[in-house]
Amino acid sequence: MTAELSLRDEIQSVLQEFRSSLGAASTEKELNDLRVHALGKNGKLTGLSKRLGKLPADERKEAGQLVNQAKSEAERGIDEKRQHLAREALQAELDSEWLDVTLDSRGGAIGNLHPVTQIQNEIEDVFISMGFEVLDGPQVETDHYNFEALNIPADHPARDMQDTFYLEDGNLLRTHTSSIQVRGMTHLKPPFKIIGPGKAFRCERIDASHETSFHQLEGMMVDRDINLAHLIYFKQTLLSRIFGREQVTRLRPGYFPFVEPGLELDIQCQICVGKGCAVCKYSGWIELLPSGMVHPNVLRAGNIDPEEFSGFAFGLGLDRLVMMRYGIEDIRHLHRADLRFIEQFG
Ligand code: PHE
Repeated sequence: MTAELSLRDEIQSVLQEFRSSLGAASTEKELNDLRVHALGKNGKLTGLSKRLGKLPADERKEAGQLVNQAKSEAERGIDEKRQHLAREALQAELDSEWLDVTLDSRGGAIGNLHPVTQIQNEIEDVFISMGFEVLDGPQVETDHYNFEALNIPADHPARDMQDTFYLEDGNLLRTHTSSIQVRGMTHLKPPFKIIGPGKAFRCERIDASHETSFHQLEGMMVDRDINLAHLIYFKQTLLSRIFGREQVTRLRPGYFPFVEPGLELDIQCQICVGKGCAVCKYSGWIELLPSGMVHPNVLRAGNIDPEEFSGFAFGLGLDRLVMMRYGIEDIRHLHRADLRFIEQFG
């Protein structure tokens, strides 16, 4: 009885000592020392379990249970404390690296699309609503797609009007988006209706209405029995959708080797309202929409039989359209990347 009591007391006092050391331990090393001290080969609890063998058999069982409980309390206590210390260390690290991701942004500048891009998007929508497909083409073109297939052979004087920048490999910066027509024809089987917006380049003398790079939007429709009335209908629809009101326009013959007959649609200059200014070269009119019936040679170059199909094509000048719509008096504003200008279209 005495032996059991004293063992029980000893267990209690060892545990008490253990608990307070555990509470005070604040490092991994202290925890290790504590483990050795209580549970190691010469540890206090280990010592107590060694003494179990000397107890009378009837007391041994209960005392054994007490020692085992004390041991597992010690094990668990050390493990929990170790985890606790690890969490604390992590928290301290996180706190020291704290970053407030909820901080409000400083109201960064939200940009806007360039007016040429805006008008291009609008026109695409107009034509998509009429069943047209939007095609793309490369800005660096081959002679074939830019000239040859458009009925402009190497010795044709029309090449003069569209002088451009040539690469050493013989390719060139496309002078118009008409190359997209040709690419379209070789991919599509008629009937089809396409538009092809994009950048074009010419070796121009720069002035208020001419730039070495500019934007066009090509259109083409090929089907059976297409005639000028179809072309004029689409032109009018386009202009009334873009300007939202009647425009003073004039239609006159125009020459392009890839159409026959060819037409020029001029719009009354919106800068001077027909009086004459630098933008319209004092004519009162702006060439906005050249067009015509696709030349049979062009259809043939696109593997389309001109006996069976006919079509129209047009090439809309996007920069000029923007200028007319907003009354911009110089095309160079559109290329200067001056935010004070561009932000007005936000
Ligand atoms: N590609 C011509 C140009 O840039 C415009 C055009 C397109 C004319 C389609 C007729 C038909 O000048």
